[in-house]
Amino acid sequence: MFAVKKIREYFPIYKKYPNLVYLDSGATSLKPQPVLDKMNEYYSEYGVNIHRGVYELSFKATDEYDKAREKVAKFINAKPDEIIFTANVTDALNKLALMYAKDNIKTGDVVLTSELEHHSSLLPWMKICEEKQAELRYIPLNREGRITVENFNKSLDEKVKVVALTYVSNVMGYRTPLEEIIPLAHQNKSVVIVDAAQAVHHFKVDVKALDCDFLAFSGHKMLGPTGIGVLYGKKRLLKTLAPVFYGGDMNQDVYVDHVEIKEVPYCFEAGTPPIAEALGLGRAIDFLEEIGLENIEAHCQEIYEYTLEKLSKIKGITVYNKTADIPIITFNVNGVHPHDAATCFDQNEICIRAGHHCAQLVSKFLKCTGTLRASIYLYNDKSDIDRFVDTLQKTIELFRKLDGE
Ligand code: ALA
Repeated sequence: MFAVKKIREYFPIYKKYPNLVYLDSGATSLKPQPVLDKMNEYYSEYGVNIHRGVYELSFKATDEYDKAREKVAKFINAKPDEIIFTANVTDALNKLALMYAKDNIKTGDVVLTSELEHHSSLLPWMKICEEKQAELRYIPLNREGRITVENFNKSLDEKVKVVALTYVSNVMGYRTPLEEIIPLAHQNKSVVIVDAAQAVHHFKVDVKALDCDFLAFSGHKMLGPTGIGVLYGKKRLLKTLAPVFYGGDMNQDVYVDHVEIKEVPYCFEAGTPPIAEALGLGRAIDFLEEIGLENIEAHCQEIYEYTLEKLSKIKGITVYNKTADIPIITFNVNGVHPHDAATCFDQNEICIRAGHHCAQLVSKFLKCTGTLRASIYLYNDKSDIDRFVDTLQKTIELFRKLDGE
């Protein structure tokens, strides 16, 4: 039995808003008290800089920061020196694109991607392709809107140098078949970059088993704080990249005419890093592991199926992703702008997301201006879904009346 009531007690926001129905975890997750406590512990007990101070408090802060890196590495089955802390997944993917493209993308090369990408995964490569006169090529989606191995294969040729793909679409919730795609990309000598922002907190991601070259995610969607992200890279590849940011703590020795940089990953973390946030992320990982990612997955699946079942009885809506691989439901109230509908939910203390979800090509694929999205996570239960469905029904009726039907 998954004890949602007990789990909710860890999330202080429910104390302030006991009637809150939070169905926007795809945008960011709620934060449990142990994560807040860990960050507070850093600020109140050893809130000094790392790697710089030659005193006990700084050693303690450095040790905690290193431990956080080890936890992140273990979480995705990487080695600590393959983990770079960044501000978020956007920061990670932008930095990587700049660093990788510098010496590896030239005129006529191809970057292969998809219309399912979040803007963070797509736009850095769009700009690089523009600047380098390289081709940004899209894998055709199938009718359902999925990336298939067959279509990937058809899009692949010797010009493809980079494959930049989402692991799970933040709008459709579809999981990309990377297990089959990555070996094909590697046979083709293409490097594979994975946006795992909607994946790591829903199911076990193992970078070694997957054999991706780079993978990035944010801390704030996985119960961690904002302001921290992760870039994983194979050490052999990271060692070939030059940093794009220079400054404090990333250099070994500085001369009047050149700089010797530190080894990977420290050369990619210029300036004071997000120390409290790294510690908070480490604690979030402990929290997820204490509950068990597989238990969270099973619980979310149960709530997701319950939601779909209830929605199947409602007339006047369009659900775009009835076979999602993570628990998100993307839908519209027919004839109603998603922002108008979302306001009705807000008036009932129900948070859902409305709009294009920073993935405008998906809305274009669905031929709509935007959608509503309800995303489920470990603190949601069936009563949340009952309230959500009840409000949805009232919203449909309200707009029918306004339309004079
Ligand atoms: N990318 C986040 C989302 O899907 C913000 O809502």
